[in-house]
Amino acid sequence: KSIDVIGVQMDFGASKRGVAMGPAAIRYAGLLDDLKGMGFDVHDKGDILPLLRGKTSETMRNYEQVIDVNRKLYDKVTTSLSRGRFPLVLGGDHSIAAGSISAVSKAYQDKGGIGVIWIDAHGDWNNEETTSTGNMHGMPFSAVCGYGPDCMVNYGQDPAYIKVKNCVQIAGRDIDPKEAERMKEAGITVFPINMIDELGMPTVIRKAIEIASDETSGIHLSFDIDAVTPEVAPGTGTMVHSGLTARESFIAVELLAQSHKLLSMDMVEVNPILDERNKTGILASKLIQSALGDIVY
Ligand code: ARG
Ligand code: MN
Ligand code: MN
Ligand code: MN
Repeated sequence: KSIDVIGVQMDFGASKRGVAMGPAAIRYAGLLDDLKGMGFDVHDKGDILPLLRGKTSETMRNYEQVIDVNRKLYDKVTTSLSRGRFPLVLGGDHSIAAGSISAVSKAYQDKGGIGVIWIDAHGDWNNEETTSTGNMHGMPFSAVCGYGPDCMVNYGQDPAYIKVKNCVQIAGRDIDPKEAERMKEAGITVFPINMIDELGMPTVIRKAIEIASDETSGIHLSFDIDAVTPEVAPGTGTMVHSGLTARESFIAVELLAQSHKLLSMDMVEVNPILDERNKTGILASKLIQSALGDIVY
């Protein structure tokens, strides 16, 4: 099996800089050699670079750069899938999930579409009307489901929106009030952190896999490293206390690998400027390997 590794040096969707160096940090942790060691045919597609400057607005900061990068990423992911490879997207801030998910969804549009599992401390379900920060990394999940901002996913072709019945949010613990309302209205399945405490991650992820793969071609995993607790993953810009343990994070991706439903994946929000000796970059690299079938002890 072949993997295309696509880096995105993006930090215009977040308020802190530095997350653009995420792909470098994850590569430095040894990801590419480790994937080769697992027997994959690995193609490093390099990094997508954002425009140096672009238009901005109060409710969608740096929207021109965010849209431009997403369009470029959409094209790369589309090409990768057309070659029969697994697109592995390294962020960068989470705004880039708009481009990657749109591309995978489009590719499988006539085959039942795809489901999305979103592992994150945040909902990323704001739009230009509900955001309190204007940061577009707080909006991509809403965008790919057709709840706006549409400019993040509509680049000329009709976007193939994800059906909310195939969407699952896991490990949420910092969701804005209006955002939570919109998620509830839309009807997306959420397993907030307290439900993981109660049910345990294996049960939660198995349910999530069932929901996301129900009558779809498979699953896109969007993994925001801030889902993991800050003691384990300090290198990220919007950390929230009391998150997933390392083992909960690993069992989630291991069971996803065992489901054989994974079509594509983003690993985002690794910020080496805020990290401790690349601890978070290394964790991200290991989690990716486990999502692709390696068991890490
Ligand atoms: N809800 C907040 C916002 O909309 C935080 C979003 C954080 N998102 C992320 N991908 N880290 O600004
Ligand atoms: Mn090859
Ligand atoms: Mn996120
Ligand atoms: Mn987050």
